[in-house]
Amino acid sequence: LSYDRYIGMPVAEVPTPALILDVAALERNVRTMGAACKARAKSWRPHGKSHKSPPIAHLQLAHGAAGICAAKLAEAEVFVHAGVKDVLITAPVIGGAKAERLLALYESAPELKIVADSSDNMHEIGAMAAANGQTVNVLIDVNVGQNRTGVDSPDEAVALARVIGNRPWLRLLGIQAYAGTHQHIVGFERRRAAELDSIERAITVRDALRAAGFPVHTISVGGTGTFRADLEAEGVTEIQPGSFGFMDAHYRSIGNETGADYTDFEPALTVMTTIISRPSRSRAITDGGNKALPTDEGLGTPVGLTGVSYRPGGDEYGILDVSKANQPLEVGDKLSFIPGHCDTTVNLFDRFYVARAGFVEAIWPVAARGCSE
Ligand SMILES: Cc1ncc(COP(=O)(O)O)c(C=O)c1O
Repeated sequence: LSYDRYIGMPVAEVPTPALILDVAALERNVRTMGAACKARAKSWRPHGKSHKSPPIAHLQLAHGAAGICAAKLAEAEVFVHAGVKDVLITAPVIGGAKAERLLALYESAPELKIVADSSDNMHEIGAMAAANGQTVNVLIDVNVGQNRTGVDSPDEAVALARVIGNRPWLRLLGIQAYAGTHQHIVGFERRRAAELDSIERAITVRDALRAAGFPVHTISVGGTGTFRADLEAEGVTEIQPGSFGFMDAHYRSIGNETGADYTDFEPALTVMTTIISRPSRSRAITDGGNKALPTDEGLGTPVGLTGVSYRPGGDEYGILDVSKANQPLEVGDKLSFIPGHCDTTVNLFDRFYVARAGFVEAIWPVAARGCSE
């Protein structure tokens, strides 16, 4: 099947379940983020893990992004091979085989950056880069509260900086201090306070590194939930938000400065499903279950409908209680959902139907789908 046949057709005619991208909303979100960063004189490096799609990365770069983040080496390979060269890989790249792939990627993208939190990893990559006559750009990954990756203390950061040194084959650029758990705190002030506390920890690490004679040009932090706090914080040079481009039902619910809904960015992504069965007056069954609308951060919300409740009916079906629905729902009708979590939803689809004014304008592959290695 050539999906290109759907270009120019009404969105309602694409085969479901389908990932629909309201590209005008995406563009507005990207513009909003770019303008906010410019106003605070910070750079932004949007996280590509949410879209996994080179055309979206190029759109972000065209609106002033400094580069792109990739979650893993394989994701970075997709971006680099599509011409997005300034990529920061935000998880440590571990093992000789991956180091070899990394160094091969450096051949096409010398501005590539990695993070590290262990000296063994730096010895291994450093030795291979030295043997090749290459230079690897490194941010020290600092744990500022998520208790995931990252060195725990200023002393550990300085010890790692001594391994990285400032040798020709390893170049220390600064630190990454991402606090994922803060992104989802409900309530703007609580979220802001937690993030500013993490940034303080990052600044302590920066100062220790500088006191020991190491450069710290970059402090890269944050995500969609904390971007306002990140932009106001002194010392932060770069933010790495991902979900802001699409938004999702979960992010929508964490609140902002003015209310219970997080409205700084618009929902741009929906999953369109079809009602495939109406077994009873109260029940409607769709063709979208866990394989179309993952629930790791909560349920998706139906668009434009009230009085219905959705639950997954297994992998392939959705079950709706429509007894109080505000409109009739028949077999064959389309029903769209704002996904609960945009990142895990995108990773389930091969393509975005890029929609403008109700028509399919283009089809963009989710080119790094499944590239989690
Ligand atoms: C290291 C890192 N930076 C940035 C982000 C972007 O976060 P968000 O999608 O919440 O904006 C993530 C998301 O998981 C991440 O893991």
